[in-house]
Amino acid sequence: MIDIHTHILPGVDDGAANWNDAMNMARAAVAEGITTIIATPHHANGRYTNTASGVVEHVSHMNEQFKVMGVPLTIRSGQEIRLHRDLLDAWFRKELLPLAESRYVLIELPSSSIPKELVELIHELNIMQLKPIIAHPERNAEIVRYPDRLAQLIEVGAYAQVTTHSLLGGFGRQIEKTAWLLCRRGLIHIVSSDAHHVERRGFRLREAYEVIRKRMGQPWEKYFLNNAQCIIEDLPFESKPEEEPFSEGIMQRIRSYFR
Ligand SMILES: [Fe+2]
Repeated sequence: MIDIHTHILPGVDDGAANWNDAMNMARAAVAEGITTIIATPHHANGRYTNTASGVVEHVSHMNEQFKVMGVPLTIRSGQEIRLHRDLLDAWFRKELLPLAESRYVLIELPSSSIPKELVELIHELNIMQLKPIIAHPERNAEIVRYPDRLAQLIEVGAYAQVTTHSLLGGFGRQIEKTAWLLCRRGLIHIVSSDAHHVERRGFRLREAYEVIRKRMGQPWEKYFLNNAQCIIEDLPFESKPEEEPFSEGIMQRIRSYFR
């Protein structure tokens, strides 16, 4: 499995605090069957600044450590870039990183609303041949209230990543419900962990894929798995499965049958 959104780099943000934490996360990832991780430290979120050159250096150091310690995991570079006014200029100043040297970039919205300038930014990024992926839209209060607003962003050229912990109920019932609603409506392209710490907020990627298979069907699990691979290989995402995801009504009937 491939995890495209993690905070595994030590001491750079609110993820792994030190090498010990980072190595624990790496071992936990391997134990789940994860082979490649994109390190996406917070950038420009008002608290943390992790510009491109520093991230690349950390990532290469970490890969060397994994080799020395025999950890079968590859780390690739990335950032979780907070939407900010200077974003395009920062790209041209080479302060920003795409995911694993692809054309995909991971964009974080504020948690309360969708800034007005986002649509224009998506257009601009598309013109630059970049593909913005919105990180965990299910945790944005405006999208929770009006899921159609995410559909509008997808329509103008964005993609969306749901977080495993949201699907598994780690952020409460409302975010869990929104996460599944967005998945079922075909508005989600990628599943990843946004892992910060092995105990407090681990990966749970295998668990999330298993629940997706049960609740939406195997074609959807495969679709999300393949899309993660597409980022690493810098390929366009797959077309959505022709099979409709299992509906919540059918799932409730199946559950009550086995009760
Ligand atoms: Fe994150």
